[in-house]
Parts: sequence; structure tokens; C-alpha cells
Amino acid sequence: MQFEVIAKCHTTKARVSRMTLAHGVTMLPTFMPVATQAAIKGLTPQQVDSLGITLILNNTYHLNLRPGLEVLNEAGGAHKFQGWNGNLLTDSGGFQLVSLSKFTTITEEGALFASPFTGEPTMLTPEESMNIQHTIGADIIMQLDDVVSSLTTGSRVEEAMHRSVRWLDRCITQHEKSGKNDTQNLFAIVQGGLDPVLRDKCLEEMISRRDRVAGYAIGGLSGGEEKDIFWRVIKQCADKLPEDRPRYSMGIGFAEDLMVCVALGVDMADCVFPTRTARFGVALTHNGPLNLKLKKHANDFSPIDETCPCPTCTSKMSRAMLNHTITHETSAAHAVTLHNLVFQAQIMGRAREAIINGTFPDYLRSFFAQYFGDAG
Ligand code: GUN
Ligand code: ZN
Repeated sequence: MQFEVIAKCHTTKARVSRMTLAHGVTMLPTFMPVATQAAIKGLTPQQVDSLGITLILNNTYHLNLRPGLEVLNEAGGAHKFQGWNGNLLTDSGGFQLVSLSKFTTITEEGALFASPFTGEPTMLTPEESMNIQHTIGADIIMQLDDVVSSLTTGSRVEEAMHRSVRWLDRCITQHEKSGKNDTQNLFAIVQGGLDPVLRDKCLEEMISRRDRVAGYAIGGLSGGEEKDIFWRVIKQCADKLPEDRPRYSMGIGFAEDLMVCVALGVDMADCVFPTRTARFGVALTHNGPLNLKLKKHANDFSPIDETCPCPTCTSKMSRAMLNHTITHETSAAHAVTLHNLVFQAQIMGRAREAIINGTFPDYLRSFFAQYFGDAG
């Protein structure tokens, strides 16, 4: 990986960087759409590419279950399997195991869970997560971490932080001996819950391994904690993480959170929010989210946003049409998904431009005034 910071904001910690991976250049800060099952729901890879998106996310846990490693290996990896020629990042699987399975037990060896197909006990170890991610072949791969909900307190948070450091070491060892570490880039995930002391300890341990990791993620957030606490943790981590490595806040996707994270020095973020909310009939706009299911849109013949460059808005598909079809025509969900991904890409692209032009603080102010104003 090549990572080069090309511009910095003078008043905030925001920065623009160029990240070059095996499948091309991605300009940061960027938002990564989530293709859990190797597909962004409703869209073809060609459509995703045509929106100017250069980096998407797949999930190790899901791809390992289906189609499985045999098929992925035969296909020559996940890029070829899904027909995606851009950059790809895979999450390691631990977070999904904990959030999706009631029967996951974490041991020092790994995460023990009941196979959703056979019910048989199955173990996901750090080494196995690396092996699976090597077969998938994503450009950025994530360490297996021990994730606890951000609302968990007490000794379990400390245990999970220390275990995440130990599992990082096992991931590094496995990755280095795989021969894949010239094309695939391993990221560490900082844990430690909402406790500044635990976060600091985790930062210290993980930063001391900086020569053996390509980037850093901030994990364990966005689980229902208060916003000011969330910001405090992001700030603490982003302030300490090395300047010359990308910083990725996991599971962050609300526009206002993205803007704050960028201001605090975050380079990458992902979330199912923009694509999921599209399928529920909510379009993201510069005046805030717009619920297309509301009756008031039934005879509104304007597009979601007159000035939006997305295929849905430029073709002038009306809010009335979307209101008419959103709950039962899949094409309406696709149309809003296209729009929402362009919205996310646009606010990040404008942030990059503003950082380069030295106007990022003004951009932030006008973004928040419009997004939370009553102009819409
Ligand atoms: N997705 C959202 N948060 C997390 C996290 O803390 N760890 C991992 N692996 N994935 C996440
Ligand atoms: Zn649009």
C-alpha cells in the first residue's frame, strides 16, 4: 500500500490522502459502502463503479458461510467472483459473530459459535480469519478482534482490549508467513470501550506494532453510546494514531458523524445505513433525511434533489413515483440506493475539496446549518 497525505486543514485535524492499493487509487477521506454478501443490495458492480466509488466492504463471516472458500478459491478470489475491479476491504468476522449469533462464546483460542447450517460447534481463530481473508483476497484485511458492545462495562471491556492486542499479534504472524502481505494490507483495530485509560493502553500496544500493520481502525463504537462520548473516543484515538497510516472508524455512516470524524482526522468509514435506509424509503439530502413514504410526497413531482448528479435525480424520477413504488417495487429501492451512495460520496468529496482549498471549517459550518436547518 502507498499512503500519502496531500493536504491538511489548519484549524481541524482533517486531512486528504491518496491511498494506492492493488486495485487502484482511493482518495481519502472516503465512505465505504457495504456489500456484506459480495453485492451492494440492489446494485450491480458496474453501477457502483459508475458512481465513482473505488472501495467497498465485504464480510468474511458471510462469505465464509456462503458461497464458501472452495468456490471463492476456484473463482480466483472475491474480486473476480463478484466482478468488482475496484478496491475491497473485508471485516474479520468477529463483530458479525457477536452481533448475529446468540451462541458465540469467546475463548483465548478464538470465537466459538454454532454453525447456522448444522448447529455444530465451529471455531473462528485469528489464524483462520487471516486464512479466510487471504482466500477472499481483499486489498485491506482486518485483524480478528474481541468486540464488546460500547454499553458493556467492567472487567470484560479490559479483557477484550488485551485479547484484541494478543489476537493482533497472532494475525500479524499468520499474515507475514502467508506471502500475501505485499498485496493485502492488515489493519489493527483499537478497542477499549469508552474508557480513556483502556483506549490509551490499546493505542500504546498497537502503535508499537506500527511497522507490521498498514493501518488502524477504531472499533467498538456506534453501539448506542452518547454522541459526546463517541466523539471523545474518536478524538483520543485519532490524535494518537500515527500520521502516516490511514485511520478507519468502523460502523459509522450518519452524515453528521462522518463530518465530525473527518474533522477529527479520520480517513475511512463504513456503514450499512445509507443503503439500508434507502430500502426503507429514506433518501439522504443536504437538508437531512427525506422519508419518501410520507403522504406529502404522493403528488410531489420534483426529484429527490434538483442539484444531485445521481442517475435517479438526473433522470428526474419524481418523489411521487418513489412514494408510489418504494414499498413494493425493487427498482424504487435501487433508485434510492443509487442516490444515497452518491450523497455519501458527495459530502466526502466536498470535504476533500474544502480541505485542499483551505475552506474546510466553512464547509463544516454550512453543512451543519443546512443539514439541521429547517430549509428543507
Ligand atoms: N464493525 C463495527 N465495529 C466493529 C468492531 O469494533 N470490530 C470489527 N471487527 N468490526 C466492526
Ligand atoms: Zn440523487
